[in-house]
Amino acid sequence: MFLARPIRLPLKTNVLFPLYSAQASPSRSLGRKTMATSSDSSSLLEYGRNVTNGLGRITEGILTSGNGSYVEYDDGRKMLDFTCGIGVTNLGHCHPKISKAAADQCMNVVHVQCSIAFHEPYLRLIKKLLPIMPDPSLDSFFFWNSGSEAVEAALKLARTVTGRQNIISMQGAYHGRTFGAMAVTKSKTIYSKGVAPLMPGVFSIPFPFWHQLGQTPDLSESALVSQCLYQLDLLLAQQTAPSDTAAIIVEPVLGEGGYVAAPTAFLEGLRSVCDKHGILLIVDEVQSGFCRTGKFFAIEYSGVRPDILLMAKGLANGFPLSAVVSRKELTDKLAPGSMGGTYAGNAVSCAAACAVVDAIHEENILPKVNERSAELFASLNALKAARPSHVLDVRGRGLMVAVEFATPAGPSAAHDSVTARDAIPAQMASRVAKKCIERGMIILTTSVYEVVRFIPPLNISAADLKKGAEIFHEAVEEVIREG
Ligand SMILES: Cc1ncc(COP(=O)(O)O)c(C=O)c1O
Repeated sequence: MFLARPIRLPLKTNVLFPLYSAQASPSRSLGRKTMATSSDSSSLLEYGRNVTNGLGRITEGILTSGNGSYVEYDDGRKMLDFTCGIGVTNLGHCHPKISKAAADQCMNVVHVQCSIAFHEPYLRLIKKLLPIMPDPSLDSFFFWNSGSEAVEAALKLARTVTGRQNIISMQGAYHGRTFGAMAVTKSKTIYSKGVAPLMPGVFSIPFPFWHQLGQTPDLSESALVSQCLYQLDLLLAQQTAPSDTAAIIVEPVLGEGGYVAAPTAFLEGLRSVCDKHGILLIVDEVQSGFCRTGKFFAIEYSGVRPDILLMAKGLANGFPLSAVVSRKELTDKLAPGSMGGTYAGNAVSCAAACAVVDAIHEENILPKVNERSAELFASLNALKAARPSHVLDVRGRGLMVAVEFATPAGPSAAHDSVTARDAIPAQMASRVAKKCIERGMIILTTSVYEVVRFIPPLNISAADLKKGAEIFHEAVEEVIREG
């Protein structure tokens, strides 16, 4: 355990949490050359002033190295990483096989512009991805850099092949910060506040999450699903005619909206509405993909076929890479040159992604995710049983798991008697996350509700998972004590 104590720096920041300096870590250093010594880094930190205020940050200092489930800061803090850089370094920091594949590729060719020639890792990656696609119809690939770009490409593809304009997305959805992606994002107003007009032609329906319907966690799944599918039918009758509707975009596990898995019946309902009206179903697995939920893709839990599948984050374990996968029959309708991008499908990123797929197979990652998931759920459900009025919900799939706390305030409190409990401490999620950071574990909140999310490495050891869960329990108890 690495207890950290707040320090004061002369730097003005917009950090969400105070600054922490840890006692020198008693454990093994990560053993690699760090980019800066402590004295270098204190002078480097001055340049933090020159970083845009548009970025938020939950820890201070300079993160200098990462190894497996741990990261180390310039001042010696060693932290257990339960964020994976928001679901990216899923196989741990600097996985030797992945880093080596990238390094080797660096010495071969780094940049092959996708409109100039194929490169070998691009095609090798397709060969490795084809057998793991959640449906055999998904046989046409386009690689880009970020999740947002993948969303943009999917919207463009859907509009082009259907000749229709409108898009339906889910309340609570997060798809990115570029203009099209921002328009279909409905998780928090911060992402688009003050920058309208957004891309037109976007409509939304509630995601089957009890909050979205002003309900309580015990509302039956079938009631949730039928309410949401009814809203979809109404939307298509009242606001966007099916013949004007190009696509429905959905995350099979709502990420920034609160880590809520979509019930199978809901996804099946979306599929049948799409089939009936010739609408395309875009499944955004940017966060839930690549074994995060205990299957290669979360959509596999439902057996529903996507028309367009999006992935990024865990695909290349930290190297920038996203993918838009669809059917050749659809992508053949695109004019050559209508897709592209200077850095799209970078050779180093593709080489890293090939190594990711190999490592997932060789290291039996899927069974490990499911074992660790059962342990994490057992621990969090025990906390819920011990603190039933503070912990409202434990949910998620695989190692994409959330704990929601009750709240005396917030968007739902006025409408929802379950969450409006006077004796409950305010802002539990962010306070608990901050206490975890003080205790040596980085963890994130999510959504407009009081939710902490767990995104540990998929190959985390049972001991480190237990340690993280204990830190979380201690943090919750401390916040409850403080009131
Ligand atoms: C489901 C989902 N889609 C899209 C994105 C956007 O990805 P990026 O931040 O790489 O643009 C994210 C990022 O968190 C995401 O979780």
